[in-house]
Amino acid sequence: MEPYSRHVIICTGGYCSPERLGRSLYTLLASLLQREGLLFGAGRVKRGETPCLGVCEGGPIVVVYPEGVWYGGVTPQLLERIVVEHLKGGKVVEEAVFHRIDQPRE
Ligand code: FES
Repeated sequence: MEPYSRHVIICTGGYCSPERLGRSLYTLLASLLQREGLLFGAGRVKRGETPCLGVCEGGPIVVVYPEGVWYGGVTPQLLERIVVEHLKGGKVVEEAVFHRIDQPRE
């Protein structure tokens, strides 16, 4: 299997976002990844959804690994920035980050 450079997980549940906006973000993410050329090759990104990330407020929640960055209150406009600036450009959209998973030290 060709490796992925990153994994994006979107919560599509109804507690962090009562309107379940994560569902439309999940669909939008596919088109943004295609537009930015992130579906194939060395920089390709895996997209996934989950019914809950255990946060359950301030959503929709979007998580990006391997950085372990958790974004909250993600709008379609913010998702586009995450794709262009973070997934493609490698620069985290810091002002939208509310949590980080500590990375193991080597
Ligand atoms: S429903 Fe989205 S974090 Fe729990």
